[in-house]
This record gives sequence, structure tokens and C-alpha cells, in this order.
Amino acid sequence: MSDLENLANEAEEASFAASTLENLEQVQAQFLGKKSKLVLAKKALGTLPAEDRANAGKEINEIKGQIEQLISSRKAALQESEWSSKFNKERMDLTERLGPIDRGHLHLITQARDELEDVFIGMGYSVVEGPEVETAWYNFEALNIPDWHPARGNFDTIFVDLGEPEEVMLRSHTSPVQIRTMESQEPPIYIVAPGRTFRTDSADATHLPAFNQIEGLVIDKGITMGDLAGTIDSFVHAFFGEEVKSRLRPSYFPFTEPSAEFDISRSDGSWLELGGCGMVHPNVLRNCNIDPEVWQGFAFGFGIDRLVSMRYQLDDIRELVVNDARFLRQF
Ligand code: DAH
Repeated sequence: MSDLENLANEAEEASFAASTLENLEQVQAQFLGKKSKLVLAKKALGTLPAEDRANAGKEINEIKGQIEQLISSRKAALQESEWSSKFNKERMDLTERLGPIDRGHLHLITQARDELEDVFIGMGYSVVEGPEVETAWYNFEALNIPDWHPARGNFDTIFVDLGEPEEVMLRSHTSPVQIRTMESQEPPIYIVAPGRTFRTDSADATHLPAFNQIEGLVIDKGITMGDLAGTIDSFVHAFFGEEVKSRLRPSYFPFTEPSAEFDISRSDGSWLELGGCGMVHPNVLRNCNIDPEVWQGFAFGFGIDRLVSMRYQLDDIRELVVNDARFLRQF
């Protein structure tokens, strides 16, 4: 009997040492099989004095029970890990493809638009949007362009056959979003409004009838032309790089006074016109119920497609819309 005392411990060690189900079967045979110490001990019970037999038999059964238990739990653990390694080895990757993965990417205009938004968000601006179909009030009148104003002729407007003649149109610039923003928000206002704009231009190497602009509007107290120039400069550096310079040239827009056009420097020393800007005209502020004696601001607007075409030196701006994947994939 003293031989059996340690048996359960030995069996435990041996079964933990068994790293496969096969090894474990050997352990099972060793501790519970025909030639195991337990079976031999059981056979030897008959040689014991009658009064000791019952106790010894009970003890042997207990040890046997313990060993059976620990072998079966070890068996379960080994089965589980063999199953999962088999599973991992044989699993099928259902995302597998033949050939290289062709994922595509955002369109050049969308990339530029996202970057522009990021630059202005970094300067504390919010991004807003307005409708692509507008009324004469938003596209012209509130912007200080009454119907007799010659400047209307500069916006080769595409009208929509709705309501009074020339009353509903595809917006010819993003400036109407200025009006919608001032109507719906209290100053101070710091926004940019990117979006699609439309004119009757026929498509050629430098024009598209549907194009993209981004509008900026700041309304606050004590805003000056210096703030405008500084903002344009910071934007140009952030978007094009520190080496690119900007300049303002006097110009005319009905919705700003004074007005300017802004240019950026090119590597060959020449200047490229990017957009228009100026101090928001008092009439425009009044049209939106903002008191020009209290609030001032500046606005700017420029073409995104233009900017993309200059950035990548495109010979023909139409490349941006013909959807030739060979062209688009390059960027
Ligand atoms: N809306 C003008 C255009 O499309 C661009 C522009 C000029 C926007 C001056 C402005 C501005 O906000 O202040 O030609």
C-alpha cells in the first residue's frame, strides 16, 4: 500500500508531461492498464489479512478514481488544443484573391477639397455647405448684384426652368453660402464652403461647365484687410509650402469693398491668379441683418479644379472629369 501513496501525484505529473493524445494514452496504460501498479495491487488484495482488505480496496478505488479524473481532464485539454491548431492550419481565407488588390483612391478633386478643409479647420474655421440650385436672391441680390447690375453678365449663369424667368439657377459661385451662413448664424463667423458650381462655359483645356470652388467668410469685430492678407498667406503656405508667396491685386467684386484678386508665385517667377477676395460690402451685411457699424469681415473664393490642375501641371483640365482610370491611377 505504501507504494500506492504517491501514485496519484506521479500520474498527475506524467499526464501533464504528455503533450499529445498519443502520449497520454501511454500514461493511461502505465497507471490504469493491466500491468499497472493499481491492478497488481488489486490482485494482491487477496493476500492481505481479511480485516485489512476492505480499507485497502477502498483506498485503491479512490486513487483509481483520482487518476481517471485527471487523465480525462488532461485529455479534454489536449483535444481542444489539437483541434484548434488543426483548425488554424486548415482554415480557409475567404478574402483571398487571385492577383494584386486594386483598391482605387479618392478623386484628385476630393483629395484637394479634403486638404483645403483640413487647412482651414486647423485655422479655426468650420466647414458648411449650401444647395447647388439657388434663387436670384442668394446667388445675386443679397450679394449686392441687383438685376440691372452689369456684373450679372460675368456669371454665365445656367437657369433652371422653374418659377419666374431667371429666378432659379444652378449656383454660379459658392458666394451664396455666405448669405445662407450669415442668415442662420450669429457672428463671429469663421467658415469655408466648398462645393460644385456651374456656368454656361463650354468645356475646353482651361474651363469646365461644372467646376468646384471654395468660399471663405469671416465676420468679427475689428477685422481689417491685413487680416485678410495674413489669412491668404497662411493658407498658401500651409497648402502649397513655405516657399510659395501670395499677393493681392486691386480688383472689383460687387460683394466686397475694397476687392482684390490674389495670386500665388510659381517656381519660374511668374504669378498665377487663384481667386478673388475683399472686405465684405456693408450692403451685404445689411442684407443679412448684420450691423456694419459693429461687425466687419472678409471673404474669398477660388476654384479647386484650377488649383489641382496647377498643382499637377495638367495640360487639360478636362482630364479631371473624363474618368480615364489610367490618368486617375497616377495620383
Ligand atoms: N464669387 C467669385 C467668383 O466666383 C469669387 C469671389 C470673389 C468670392 C471675391 C469672394 C470674394 O468671396 O470676396 O468669381
